[in-house]
Amino acid sequence: MLAQLTQQPPDALLALIKLYSADDRADKIDLGVGVYRTGEGDTPVFTSIKKAEQMLVDRQDSKAYLGPEGDMAFVEALKPIIFGKDFARIDCIDGMQTPGGTGGVRLAAALAKAAGVGRIWMGTPSWPNHAQIMKDLGVEVGTFNHAAEDGTADMAALRQAVADAAPNDAILLHGCCHNPTGIDYSPADWKEITGLLADKGLLPILDLAYQGLGDGLEDDAAGVRMVMEALPEALMAYSCDKNFGLYRDRVGAVYMMGEGADCLPRIASNGAALARANWSMPPDHGAAAVRMILEDEALTKEWKDELESMRTRINQVRARLAEAGVAGSIDLRPLADQRGLFAVLPLSKDQIAAMRSDHAIYMAGSGRINIAGLTMGNIDKFIKALTKVSG
Ligand code: LMR
Repeated sequence: MLAQLTQQPPDALLALIKLYSADDRADKIDLGVGVYRTGEGDTPVFTSIKKAEQMLVDRQDSKAYLGPEGDMAFVEALKPIIFGKDFARIDCIDGMQTPGGTGGVRLAAALAKAAGVGRIWMGTPSWPNHAQIMKDLGVEVGTFNHAAEDGTADMAALRQAVADAAPNDAILLHGCCHNPTGIDYSPADWKEITGLLADKGLLPILDLAYQGLGDGLEDDAAGVRMVMEALPEALMAYSCDKNFGLYRDRVGAVYMMGEGADCLPRIASNGAALARANWSMPPDHGAAAVRMILEDEALTKEWKDELESMRTRINQVRARLAEAGVAGSIDLRPLADQRGLFAVLPLSKDQIAAMRSDHAIYMAGSGRINIAGLTMGNIDKFIKALTKVSG
């Protein structure tokens, strides 16, 4: 039986991690997978996390099972960060811990499918795993163009997708720091989206994986809050993997918003049943560390300061790239207005291969770069290589 399986290619983005490690050129640059790096090129554990982990070692008295919903105190502690302190419909929202934001996306899509959603619409390009998860779940996907020619979000394409959608469809929207383009919806776009979804009755599935890495914790959540204040139902996948630097610990959540007090326990019971069948229970360690930070005022401040310094550095690199103007045929100026870890450069496959073979610069096959992989020490080399390869 098993011999009949056909060979699958490795995940292209994750394969880059290995290719990069195997390259022994001293001046190599990793712009592949989305992890934050300091100006020295490191991805250290947050000091607030280190302290929370120490507290966990000292205070945790059991590792007995918690249940499919995971650490509910973690889920509750995140709510004011995500939804703000005065979110009017907070009583209509329940949540569950998931293995990373990926687990949140999977659970949200599986819940939508179980609820009878026909098709999930998404702007493309998107994080490649979005489509893979939908395919694996057997959910039909509808696509529309995300980035317009002028470097803003393609609202005309979104309007058309909503018009083409059936009333029982859902739409997946990146909350901030769009992966891969860095092109986010403006506040005016979010307002229009809220109206369009309300009129059509589409179910929003919001993916908030980079809160705090764009313009700040509040601004980065403003769009999803606007949608969720106005619509009766929504699902949200949330990740702490980037904004707490917990990548391999897989820390995320799914939030479910329902209309009316009686349906919320029903929605949550479906979430719990799906989690049980998928992974039974989420891993505890990282979520417990996040909870310890958010339950402690001083640690929360320390975490917010660490996050702010990440955001400042990312935006400094963006500004520095934009200052370079045009590199070969690539206009770097729009990068100043984009947000988050990523940007897509319009390079051909051959040019991306030449960046790797001739200059030891590793980027995704889509032309996506991780802005945080650039430092004041390697950015000139990058701009030079880009000029040479694309000129
Ligand atoms: C990325 O897009 O690089 C990250 O979200 C990591 C991943 O799992 O793909």
